[in-house]
Parts: sequence; C-alpha cells; structure tokens
Amino acid sequence: MSPADRTTAASVVYDALTADDAMACAALDLELFGPDGPWSAAAFLSEIGSRHNHCFAARLNGELVGYAVLATLGTGSDREFEVHTIGVSERTQGLGIGRTLLRQMLDVVDREGAPVLLDVRTDNMPARTMYEAHGFEIVGLRPRYYRPSNADAYLMTRPGKTLPLKPLPQKTAAPSWTKTVPIAEARAGGAAGAGTRDNSGEVAGS
Ligand SMILES: CC(C)(COP(=O)(O)OP(=O)(O)OC[C@H]1O[C@@H](n2cnc3c(N)ncnc32)[C@H](O)[C@@H]1OP(=O)(O)O)[C@@H](O)C(=O)NCCC(=O)NCCS
Repeated sequence: MSPADRTTAASVVYDALTADDAMACAALDLELFGPDGPWSAAAFLSEIGSRHNHCFAARLNGELVGYAVLATLGTGSDREFEVHTIGVSERTQGLGIGRTLLRQMLDVVDREGAPVLLDVRTDNMPARTMYEAHGFEIVGLRPRYYRPSNADAYLMTRPGKTLPLKPLPQKTAAPSWTKTVPIAEARAGGAAGAGTRDNSGEVAGS
C-alpha cells in the first residue's frame, strides 16, 4: 500500500447503513454486480429496514464506498447468520475496507458463537480469498445460481465457535430450587443430594 493509499484507508469512517444510503448502495451494487442482477434501492431499503439484519457502511469524505449486510436466521441454539452482501467501490478496493466490513460482521456472529454462511461466484477470487482467510470453507456448489449471468456459486460456511462459560452471579439467598428439608430429617442425613450448582452446570454433592 502506498503512503497515499494508507492516508486514504485511515480516512475511512465505519458506521451503520441507514435508509438514506439505499440509493448509493444500489449505485455501488450496479458497479460491482452489473451482470449478476444488482439490487435496487428498494431492495436495499428492505434489507436496511429489516430488524433481522446488521448493516454496515464504510465512508470516505462522506461518500459511501463500502457496504455489508448480515442477516440473522433462526433462534436459540439454531441461530445462524448469512452474509447477504458485501461490496467495496472499485476505486477503494485493496485498502482493507472489505476485510474491516467482514470483521465487523464476524464480531456479531462470534458474540453468539453461531455458524455463518454465504454464496460467492466460483470465479470471484478476491472474495473467495478473503473469506478463506477468515475461516470460511467451500461446502457446496450451486450451478447457474446467479441471473442473468448463469454463473455458478460456491456455498461457503464458517462453523460456530464454542463460547466460554460465563460465571454465574454469586447469590447470598438460597436458590428457589433448593429443597426444603425438615430439621429432623436433615439431622438424620436426609438433606444429602440437595446440592448447589457450580458454573459448569453440574450439581455438586449429588
Ligand atoms: C471482495 C471485496 C469486498 C474485497 O474488498 P477489498 O476492500 O478490496 O479487500 P481488502 O483490501 O480488505 O482485502 C481483504 C482480503 O481480500 C483478499 N483480496 C482482496 N483483493 C484481492 C485480489 N485482487 N486477489 C486476491 N485476493 C484479494 C485478500 O485475502 C485480502 O487480504 P490481504 O490484504 O491480507 O491479502 C471487493 O473486492 C469487492 O467489493 N468485490 C466486488 C463485490 C464482491 O465480489 N463482493 C463479494 C460477493 S460474495
């Protein structure tokens, strides 16, 4: 990266996409995905407005130069994420903007330890290289996935991570599930088994 490029990269500001960005997103999408059915401003408005999506923006001197949309699917232990789109304007590619947008999405994903998936054109080496560098692997082929180009896509996934157990807050009062044992029975040893739970979820003393 040249010194001028470094200055440019340092000037990029990252924040959230808003409805006001829909037109600029559509213009960038046309530049980047022309042959593969670019999204309209209405499609971006819908993505940005969805409460299931996380939408990221990269701006240079106030102008949108990158965008990314991460969708949340499923609930609880079935939670997974999907990268709906990511793009960086041609004139600012190669400066680390795509990597930063992808990392912002993966921060959201990793907070939940969930898997994430995406589709990528089989011949899109810059994107495939970036995804592979961040833990994605090819798990399937979708023939003629993109229209109108009929280009094939790879399905790539990045597995979920096991989250560390969080310590439970210390309680001074007896927990509600503690068995109440009459004093006479307790003295006779009847309270054995009414233990306490530790952070691993094991019942101590049983
Ligand atoms: C894919 C894309 C988002 C990458 O954004 P970018 O800002 O240019 O990428 P970065 O400068 O952050 O580089 C991130 C990584 O991408 C990979 N990469 C970027 N350009 C590359 C190229 N020309 N060839 C191979 N790998 C490349 C590298 O792994 C790079 O990491 P490195 O710099 O540590 O080697 C951008 O090329 C783009 O918008 N392409 C068109 C839209 C698109 O294809 N989106 C993905 C659809 S699935």
